Amino acid sequence: MTDDPERIGEEAAASEMARLAEEIAAHDRRYHGEDAPVISDADYDALLRRYLELEARFPHRAPPDGPGARVGSRPAQGFEKVIHARPMLSLRNAFDEEDVAEFVRGVRRFLNLEPETPLAMTAEAKIDGLSIALRYEGGRLAQAATRGDGREGENVTRNIETVESVPKLLSGPAPEVLEVRGEIYMAHGEFRRLNEEREREGLPLYANPRNSAAGSVRQIDPAVTAGRRLRFFAYGWGEVSERPAETHAAWLERLRDWGFEVEPNGGRAEDAAGLIDAHRAIGERRASLDYDIDGVVYKVDNIAWQERLGFAGRAPRWAVAHKFPAERAETVLEDILVQVGRTGALTPVAVLRPVTVGGVVVSRATLHNEDEIERKDIHVGDTVVIQRAGDVIPQVLEVRPDKRPEGAEPFRPPETCPVCGSEARRDGGDVVRRCTGGLVCRAQAVERLKHFVSRGGFDIEGLGRKHIETFHADGLIAAPADIFRLRERRAELLDREGWAEQSVDNLLEAIEERRRISFDRFLYALGIRHIGEGNARLLARHYGSLDALRDAVASAASREGEAWEALIGIDGMGAGRAEDLVAFLSDPRSAEIVEALAREVAVEGVADAASAAGAGAGALAGRTVVFTGTLAALSRREAKARAETIGMRVVGSVSAKTDFVVAGEAAGSKKRRAEELGVKVLTEDEWLELAER
Ligand code: IVH
Repeated sequence: MTDDPERIGEEAAASEMARLAEEIAAHDRRYHGEDAPVISDADYDALLRRYLELEARFPHRAPPDGPGARVGSRPAQGFEKVIHARPMLSLRNAFDEEDVAEFVRGVRRFLNLEPETPLAMTAEAKIDGLSIALRYEGGRLAQAATRGDGREGENVTRNIETVESVPKLLSGPAPEVLEVRGEIYMAHGEFRRLNEEREREGLPLYANPRNSAAGSVRQIDPAVTAGRRLRFFAYGWGEVSERPAETHAAWLERLRDWGFEVEPNGGRAEDAAGLIDAHRAIGERRASLDYDIDGVVYKVDNIAWQERLGFAGRAPRWAVAHKFPAERAETVLEDILVQVGRTGALTPVAVLRPVTVGGVVVSRATLHNEDEIERKDIHVGDTVVIQRAGDVIPQVLEVRPDKRPEGAEPFRPPETCPVCGSEARRDGGDVVRRCTGGLVCRAQAVERLKHFVSRGGFDIEGLGRKHIETFHADGLIAAPADIFRLRERRAELLDREGWAEQSVDNLLEAIEERRRISFDRFLYALGIRHIGEGNARLLARHYGSLDALRDAVASAASREGEAWEALIGIDGMGAGRAEDLVAFLSDPRSAEIVEALAREVAVEGVADAASAAGAGAGALAGRTVVFTGTLAALSRREAKARAETIGMRVVGSVSAKTDFVVAGEAAGSKKRRAEELGVKVLTEDEWLELAER
């Protein structure tokens, strides 16, 4: 096992990986299933390490069910219970400076410290995620458990194994048994991405990143967790075979050395004033962090002292959580606007007297729907309490009834659409009121056009939301097909303020680039209620072409019979979505819009795309690819679409699991990282050749 993985040939690596995978699987069975290991943990680790090194170098030659692939692909069967060897407790809270001073006094008293004896303490961000206990045996991740009720949690090992910032093997020597505790969280960007995706798919949105992280950890299918890009910050320990550090600060250092991420904004202090300073400093950085924190945890640094202090009830005496005041503010609700969305949903929005909440000026807040307004008894003119939780849209929490001005009127939901005047109706059981104007409604038409050109749809470079609004207002585009007729109106475009020859031609060129489009994008772009990118792909794959889909929908219009059964039987569709699809395509107004659009563009059927990709396509299906740098022949979007058409997964960042990195002009850090990890780097031409083989 001395062969340098950097120098081994591909074929030799492939056969060695296959052999190692078998050997490791056999040891796994003996270890987990029969409880009778035949090699030492150190020898096992050596095998696994060698395997992972080779896999990092030749990921595309890894056996599909090898030890690397197992991470994140094995389906969990519900969750077993795990009894925590040391209970996972909670923290006492401090809300003000006096509470903090009392904490420090209490510690000094308990330890009977002389006034001149220094008391070193740490202050670290309190991460608003969910706590997890990671058990390492011989430096190898053996189990991950949720906190549960503190005594008993759930075994979520398979899911946590998919979290990139959780080391699977510790780098460097560690106690034989080492339980690392910390927080699993979801960064704001990922939370936004996930909710946008859920919105497109018509799924309920997560209220905040914490709920979303918790929901993601408890997925039955680890592949779903893997797709959520969770992160982990380590801060504590549970069961350990030997004490891993003498001070908390040194412990955090060890965690970093082993490969854990530790929240970087912590500080140190020797008295209450120092702790408060650290609290302020962390609080000032809070708004710029990419994750939610809800306070600062103060800990006695000396571990021997922590042990002496022990626990009182369910919380340690050696630590306290100094919470941030809730990000709330009072202001006046000056008006209630009603917005009309793409599918006609009317959403009431509070117009607020601008107020600063947690460092951000807020002048609008969501009121969700009319039932919520009634439940909270909100009148225009009321003084309201608003809250900004993490990254979510500010909400109106409650009204101050004592501050209600005389004559303030309750909100009356509109019976007609505020934009087009069509009837606005709530259908049985629906909490949402909808404009019935369909595409006659300007607001719906504009929102649909914005959706049409959005990233997952036609993705027309240079045609942003603002342009759609002004072009629509000025009569340049009313329906999607008009976008493709803009070239006939070049002179009018040139006359517009802010447009010059170059920018008009760039736009027209970007539009021309989209005259050929994959069937799934075309479908998604239509903005049919509840048909998000995922469902559009399913439909495209199932029916293959727009004509076949239209025929099937026509036959399914009776909502019974074979065509209808086939449609609702598509995995992931169901009767609700099928109904939305049939209703859309059988409405003569939307059918006409689709017709007009289909005359302008070439919709590439799935079969066409597959034959263009040829026999090589199958081999690439399921592989992951990262595009980086500037591509010459294709736009990034198109390159992505092509890869997806042949079943590849396009991801944004490079890891050892990435199969290929396609590096265009001026590729930088991603290319370097790929080279470091031994991920195959292709030029654009090489990739095109491979993808089209
Ligand atoms: S120390 C005995 N440090 O806050 C418990 N906890 O409210 C010692 N938390 O259950 C916990 N960030 O999930 C500690 N830097 C941090 C933390 C942290 C978040 C969570 C943890 C705990 C909860 C208590």
